[in-house]
Amino acid sequence: MRYLILSDLHSNMTALDTVLKAAEGRWDKAVCLGDLVGYGPDPNEVVDRVRELSTATIRGNHDKAVSGVADAEEFNPIARAAVLWTRERLRPENLEYLQKLPKGPQSVDGFSIVHGAVFDEDEYVFSPALALDGLLASPTPVTFFGHTHLQGGFSLRGEQPDVLHFRPAAGQPFSTLTIEPGTTYLLNPGSIGQARDGDVRAGFAIADLEKQTVEFWRIPYDVEAVQQRMTQAGLPEPLILRLSFGR
Ligand SMILES: [Fe+2]
Repeated sequence: MRYLILSDLHSNMTALDTVLKAAEGRWDKAVCLGDLVGYGPDPNEVVDRVRELSTATIRGNHDKAVSGVADAEEFNPIARAAVLWTRERLRPENLEYLQKLPKGPQSVDGFSIVHGAVFDEDEYVFSPALALDGLLASPTPVTFFGHTHLQGGFSLRGEQPDVLHFRPAAGQPFSTLTIEPGTTYLLNPGSIGQARDGDVRAGFAIADLEKQTVEFWRIPYDVEAVQQRMTQAGLPEPLILRLSFGR
């Protein structure tokens, strides 16, 4: 079974459309690690498409804030403005869908999914030290996480955690990780809608764990088209500009 792993879509329908075209015919089922909405201009379109894909989907911190499951007090003023903008525009059935999204971690077909950390869905896993508890406790050898918007991850073999970086070679849309027996992995597919690792392209992954492979993809999309819609929508300027830099 080949799984399409989507995360941090952030209301960016142009990026999601481009990713789904690039991945066409290469996956059987999809999972979504949360943050369907927030920041971007297309909340209903993205939620509609994720619902159509029938993914196993868990909630992210933006999904919780937009739908009122959590308050947006901990968000910075710019992110909070986008939360309020999104809440006003989501159709009632999409708001209800976000309200009912389950919390991670969840088990899916021999692997796990979580938005942030294994023990705290809202925690950012930036370092091996922060990854270690999750690597030791995860019920499956492979766990996919999001939230940091940084494609890559961590592995643990024995007592030694390692940092994993993926960067497709020139002319290649993806690089492939081979899953080694006896090693535990926390893997981040990257963000569809708002990259933060200096690479403006949309990130996602395709996992075929029967073949012990995970492909880490980066696909260019029409960033300017998204920025134009954000400008028309009156979304905050810093959120528009950061898409140009992947920061
Ligand atoms: Fe996010």
